[in-house]
Amino acid sequence: METPHNLSLPQSTAIAEIKDAAVHIKNLNYSFGRGDLCKQVLYDINLTLPRGQIVIMTGPSGSGKTTLLTLIGALRSAQEGSLRVLNQEIVGLSNRQLVEVRRNIGFIFQAHNLFESLTAAQNVEMAVELTGEFATKRDQATAILTQVGLKDRVDYKPDALSGGQKQRVAIARALVNQPRLILADEPTAALDKKSGRDVVTLMQKLAKEQGKTILMVTHDNRILDVADRIINLVDGRLESDETLDTFVTTHDPKVLDRRMFIL
Ligand SMILES: Nc1ncnc2c1ncn2[C@@H]1O[C@H](COP(=O)(O)OP(=O)(O)OP(=O)(O)O)[C@@H](O)[C@H]1O
Ligand SMILES: [Mg+2]
Repeated sequence: METPHNLSLPQSTAIAEIKDAAVHIKNLNYSFGRGDLCKQVLYDINLTLPRGQIVIMTGPSGSGKTTLLTLIGALRSAQEGSLRVLNQEIVGLSNRQLVEVRRNIGFIFQAHNLFESLTAAQNVEMAVELTGEFATKRDQATAILTQVGLKDRVDYKPDALSGGQKQRVAIARALVNQPRLILADEPTAALDKKSGRDVVTLMQKLAKEQGKTILMVTHDNRILDVADRIINLVDGRLESDETLDTFVTTHDPKVLDRRMFIL
């Protein structure tokens, strides 16, 4: 395994590029709890995600991946270091300000978190309502559900959809408001091989066509090829940052999460 190194962009990188990055993190530390119960889970994270990249984050269970994702997504607040998301510093923001930041981010979780009593379209419409666009919500929901291949399922409730279809509704909901940044936490974990592949291919297509930045946590090595770049978090520290080819040839499977290598 490589020795840890600083993962911010090389010094030669133009400052303008960093300014324009979707995410720019410097010296981020994060702890849960206070006093005697204080437990640090992220250590000195430095990371820049340029716009339009698909980045996969991997690493052992408990290494801090979800914690880092929720910090970037403004779902919890960081106190130490700098975390710029879509050109806004979010360390030190109030809860109300964090809610504003979240409007520009699409979230996709392992469990789709759809409302079971609402149809596919209504689930997506709820996201549109957050923007206040009530008049067009149905059209917007139908359009994005069509894009993810669910045109003929808009009026189905989740229990009448397959796992892959539910996850595609969740993707539609995450994308309907045109977020510039998409954060996904193990989006294929509950899916079979083909549905998982379809879901990431769809995300890749949307990222490339619409210039979205995607940060995706996964243990699923079958989908690593969609990544422009793979970062590895171990015990709360970013240990490596590589292209797929380098990742595969330089990592000893024994030191990575076993789940990544179960085909
Ligand atoms: N709300 C919390 N309060 C206290 N500790 C927490 C909390 N959430 C997570 N932790 C701890 O922080 C560490 C990192 O957890 P996190 O969920 O970020 O790991 P992860 O890399 O996403 O793991 P997995 O691959 O299993 O999902 C773990 O040791 C976990 O026990
Ligand atoms: Mg996790």
